[in-house]
Amino acid sequence: MSRDQKFFDMYSLVIGVLVIFALAILVLAMKMSNLTQGVYTRDGAEYQVELADRIRPVGQVYRSGEEHASSAPTVETQSEPEPVATALSGPQVYNTACLACHGAGIGGAPILGDTAGWAGRIVQGPEMLKQHALQGFSGGTGYMPPKGGRMDLSDAEIEAAVDYMIGEAT
Ligand code: HEC
Repeated sequence: MSRDQKFFDMYSLVIGVLVIFALAILVLAMKMSNLTQGVYTRDGAEYQVELADRIRPVGQVYRSGEEHASSAPTVETQSEPEPVATALSGPQVYNTACLACHGAGIGGAPILGDTAGWAGRIVQGPEMLKQHALQGFSGGTGYMPPKGGRMDLSDAEIEAAVDYMIGEAT
């Protein structure tokens, strides 16, 4: 046997042993992971409980008079804060968006508080008046632009202004 042949045989043997060794480690690792981590999965309830316990704050503060509820902190659910009402009231909307025309009757607009001028309109019912105020209206005396041209105001605000105008005319 030549020296080269001998070297090649040894070399193959070493590589073979290493491969077998690597496979053995792989199988062993898989076995181990089944043994140690098969108990709980990441989203399993058991895991979550353990996790909550592990990251629980070390200390707790009790104010005087407060009951020592339990050692485990309870997660308090905060109710959503009520949105602060920022909508304008009927008179506010009227003064900023409607007064220009309805104050003096510009362009044939029915004047605020003019009972006679509003009577024929109010008989249509508040819903129809609101629809006309929201979508615009041309009834023969002039042109009422949608929302009085104030598209930044909400439907509810315009409707509040209509309610206010109806109230002033009756
Ligand atoms: C550019 C002027 C103008 C502005 C601003 C304006 N209006 Fe008018 N509005 C009119 C005119 C003109 C009419 C009458 C249209 C007709 O009957 O031909 C009218 C009519 C109305 C009517 C009666 C509709 C009907 O069916 O008879 C309501 C309600 C009304 N406006 C609400 C409002 C409100 C609420 C605002 C403010 C958000 C407003 N208007 C702003 C010009 C205006």
